[in-house]
Amino acid sequence: MNNNVFKNLSYGVYIIACKDDNKYTGCTVNSIMQITSEPPTIALSVNHQNYTHTCLEKNKKFSVSILSEKSNPLAIGTFGFRSGRDFNKFEVIPYSIIDELPVITDACAYLICEIIDKVETKTHSVFIAKVLNGDILNNNNPMTYAYYHNVIKGKSPKTAPTYVEE
Ligand SMILES: Cc1cc2nc3c(=O)[nH]c(=O)nc-3n(C[C@H](O)[C@H](O)[C@H](O)COP(=O)(O)O)c2cc1C
Repeated sequence: MNNNVFKNLSYGVYIIACKDDNKYTGCTVNSIMQITSEPPTIALSVNHQNYTHTCLEKNKKFSVSILSEKSNPLAIGTFGFRSGRDFNKFEVIPYSIIDELPVITDACAYLICEIIDKVETKTHSVFIAKVLNGDILNNNNPMTYAYYHNVIKGKSPKTAPTYVEE
């Protein structure tokens, strides 16, 4: 099989965030898709090894910050290459609180979601979540995964579902 075929699938770039015991945590994801409009429902794939996975299993509610081409790429790296197990990512990235969850300040839109179901794979859980709230924050273009790779020249770690060994 030609593994490059997967590079022709399109995604956005998002930061999901949820409550930890006495702080907030979260990680960068590309694997979000809307699966129904009524009721509004999304799917999200999260690696079992990610600390965010542990927190989502406990807390169920999470925010999705939809990043734009103008969002600071530092957030993608901080949330995508460090673990909330030993580091408070929200101490270094600006956010505001919406519906009791953090939303990245320079995101172009956000969703507030609650997990209602889960499908297991060998490495990732696919969480199904209903969308409780959401709004547009500015008119900047949402960042695509292709823009992240081709313009920002960003990389993806092994835990990303789209990881391809170079
Ligand atoms: C561009 C990008 C996309 C990513 N997409 C996903 C994803 O869809 N699912 C996932 O589980 N991890 C994804 N990751 C990896 C996690 O963000 C990364 O493993 C993170 O360090 C986990 O942090 P945590 O241990 O605090 O949860 C992605 C990382 C990057 C940089």
